[in-house]
Amino acid sequence: MVVSQTLKRYARLLVYLKPYRRRLGIVLLLALIGTAVNLAYPYLSKILIDDALLGRRFQLLFTVGFVLFAAMVFSFVVNAASSLLYVSVSARVLLDMRLDLYRHLQRLSLKFYDNTRIGEILSRLNNDLAEAQRVTSDTLLALITNLLVLSGTIALLLLLNWKLFLVGIAFLPVGLKGLLHYRQRVHQQAKTIRERSAAIGSFLVESLLGIRLIKAFHAEDAEAERFRAQNEAFIRALLRFQWLSVIASGVPGLMMAMSTLAVLLYGGSLMIDGTMTLGSLVAFMAYQMRLMPPMQNLVALFMNFQRARASLDRVFAFFDLQPDVREHPHARELDWVRGEIEFDEVTMSYEPGRPVLKKVSFTVPAGTTCALVGPSGGGKSTIADLLLRFYDPSSGVIRVDGHDVREVTLESLRRHICLVDQETFLFSGTIEDNIRYGRPTATFDEIVAAAQAAAIHEFIEALPQGYRTVVGERGVKLSGGQRQRLAIARAVLRDPAILILDEATSALDWQAESSIKEAVARLMRGRTTLIISHRLSLIQDADLIIVLENGEVVQRGRHQQLLREPGAYRRLFIKQAGALEKDAFSPALSPTESLS
Ligand SMILES: Nc1ncnc2c1ncn2[C@@H]1O[C@H](COP(=O)(O)OP(=O)(O)OP(=O)(O)O)[C@@H](O)[C@H]1O
Ligand SMILES: [Mg+2]
Repeated sequence: MVVSQTLKRYARLLVYLKPYRRRLGIVLLLALIGTAVNLAYPYLSKILIDDALLGRRFQLLFTVGFVLFAAMVFSFVVNAASSLLYVSVSARVLLDMRLDLYRHLQRLSLKFYDNTRIGEILSRLNNDLAEAQRVTSDTLLALITNLLVLSGTIALLLLLNWKLFLVGIAFLPVGLKGLLHYRQRVHQQAKTIRERSAAIGSFLVESLLGIRLIKAFHAEDAEAERFRAQNEAFIRALLRFQWLSVIASGVPGLMMAMSTLAVLLYGGSLMIDGTMTLGSLVAFMAYQMRLMPPMQNLVALFMNFQRARASLDRVFAFFDLQPDVREHPHARELDWVRGEIEFDEVTMSYEPGRPVLKKVSFTVPAGTTCALVGPSGGGKSTIADLLLRFYDPSSGVIRVDGHDVREVTLESLRRHICLVDQETFLFSGTIEDNIRYGRPTATFDEIVAAAQAAAIHEFIEALPQGYRTVVGERGVKLSGGQRQRLAIARAVLRDPAILILDEATSALDWQAESSIKEAVARLMRGRTTLIISHRLSLIQDADLIIVLENGEVVQRGRHQQLLREPGAYRRLFIKQAGALEKDAFSPALSPTESLS
């Protein structure tokens, strides 16, 4: 039963082998030929002893000697060719699988990434897939050739003397029982190894990403200690695995030694009786010896399969995950969008029973600007994520131009919406590449125009390498404000119908902000804009201001009107502007005044 489960797992690999079946067929053919030649040696030695040596025939001696030599050379060539061909196929198979898994991972929703550690994902893409490749490369080929050698040897042993063969395999059942016992334990241990190795990967990724925090809190030693402990645990698991493997592979060795002794005693007495020739006994013993390596190999291979099965399980577990956000089978393409946004009684819970948005409803007419304000954690960024369909709401409907976002293709929805985020992400390429991410087909002039619109062009020009400056991983070589302006340039280039600015200027000082305020205003013109901000200067001109508190809309209206009403907006506003005179609460306030 366990065997059939294992086979079922490996059967899933067959899909990846299929495109290479012709090359694999050649490999198999070569392996067959190589095996046949290998099996011929002991039989040739029987002819050598019985007919040539004992029969004193010189001519035959030379013929057999030459055939033996030719067979050796031939089998070397055949083996080399088949293993080279096989490795090239298996490397391709690994590439196909890795690419497939990568594509699949990209399709998975953000919920998956919220709940899965990056190190875990890396470990499956790297270690586990490499393990799977090892199986498909050496192991599978070795399995086939060893099985061929084994069955060929058994056939020849039966042919030479079946009674002697039965004596030789008398100890087989005991050996098999021992093998089965250890098999389960080895499998368990393989799983432990994988888990500990993944834990180390996760730890590394996390601690390297958090290097600033670690340094700031002087936690280097504590982190190194944690790293050491994780490695120790891994080594312990590895040693235990090795120990179990050694015992398990020792079992058939012992079994064969006993068999050899039995064959020597029984076969020797047959020869002394005269019922068996010397050549036959020598050949039999030689084949008997040849039983040992393939059996041991098969045990070792079995261990590999066990280990790889744990890896394969982990790889296929990822393949089996379905994205939470799925495209409707008949999803329509949004070719062109005016930009009307409607939230209709939208409730959202990341975790069941804990809604972060409660029956939120509002409409933003096409081409207008809506500001979302409110205390931290109120659900503002969640609204942006829902609009982009990073998540689906628990209930309620979100519409763009009257279309339920769940009924349009993800690609076309996201093509028309651009999000400039709280945390700007840059890839480790050049500034030019990072802006071009907004529209890969953009020309260099368009990129410069976008940078000018985002008030970052002069800064870039002043750099020694200009637009070819490499920004460092995640853009670490730039300041937070510079990163944000690059993100705005990216959005300019993208030219979407709907623009979401989520604290998009939070990292800018008032001077930088006022210099791009115009750019942002120009960017907003003619499109629907959702602004999430604590900054009065960006909010006060909005056509609609929505105040969110604890996932509920508590107020809505325009700046002047909301200021007059007693309520959350005014409270937020007064709290922040606390020191100022009440009279000063006018739209003409300096741009640095902030609402939260
Ligand atoms: N991926 C997530 N998984 C689980 N809970 C989340 C997730 N993202 C946000 N939340 C929770 O949802 C609530 C709303 O978060 P959201 O990011 O929308 O707030 P916000 O209004 O944008 O706050 P801020 O002004 O600080 O950016 C918070 O309580 C937060 O803990
Ligand atoms: Mg937010």
